[in-house]
Amino acid sequence: MSAHTSPIQGPKRVRVHHLAEAKARGEKLAMLTAYDAVTAAIFDAAGMDILLVGDSIGNVMHGHATTIPVTVDDMIPAARAVARATKRAFVVIDLPFGSYEAGPQQALETAVRIFKETGADAVKLEGGLRSVPQIRALTSAGIPVVAHLGYTPQSENLLGGPRVQGRGEAAVESLAGDAKAVEDAGAVAVVLEMVPTDVAARITEAARIPTIGIGAGPHCDGQVLVWTDMAGMTGWSPRFARRYAELGAALQQAAQDYVAEVKDSSFPDEEHSFDR
Ligand code: KIV
Repeated sequence: MSAHTSPIQGPKRVRVHHLAEAKARGEKLAMLTAYDAVTAAIFDAAGMDILLVGDSIGNVMHGHATTIPVTVDDMIPAARAVARATKRAFVVIDLPFGSYEAGPQQALETAVRIFKETGADAVKLEGGLRSVPQIRALTSAGIPVVAHLGYTPQSENLLGGPRVQGRGEAAVESLAGDAKAVEDAGAVAVVLEMVPTDVAARITEAARIPTIGIGAGPHCDGQVLVWTDMAGMTGWSPRFARRYAELGAALQQAAQDYVAEVKDSSFPDEEHSFDR
């Protein structure tokens, strides 16, 4: 199958109601990050249900150590490119750190700007109970919200780095309470990051909205990965990310071959040159 032939069944364009319908049917949702038009078009043609313009853009594309420095101005051009290149997938944009925590009014101003300037289908924000007023405000304004629980990278300083969350009975109860709170506030889906398999399974079973796992085991309603981890773009991927290719090594080899052929003048040859 060529990269431009879609293997997709199901809706022509994934809309918000398709997420809950997929859960009701027991159909898993596939989600991947994207930060530009080139990869968004490839992932969309591959049948991705959801594309996330994650604030992981900070680590992955901008060379930061964390997501904390990412701004709304960083997110908007990436989100616009992804939304433009996407025909079918549901496009979710992260609200970066500092753009919604102050309260519902700040969250609304940020999300309205993102919606107006990008063509996104939903926004994602981190936090459970603490983010309920923001989720309510956005939902009331007609902006679908995906919540993010478990390990939440914007709070990595408080959490002590990327660590499994929801270990121990009190932590399990707190996570389950957060999941119920974001659902009741109107979230359309919830990402569970670095959560033990049985805890994610319990939350998934109790939730009416789909759970999307990343390092949360196989029982979630969907899975999300950072695309560079799943494609093997760098030498390291987190333990929970399967490497479906070794694109980093392949790209380095291609670049090395190009360097060698420029140096020995075998590129460009006749085929890649013009006659008068
Ligand atoms: O920004 C991101 O890539 C994310 C995923 C890890 C879910 O939030």
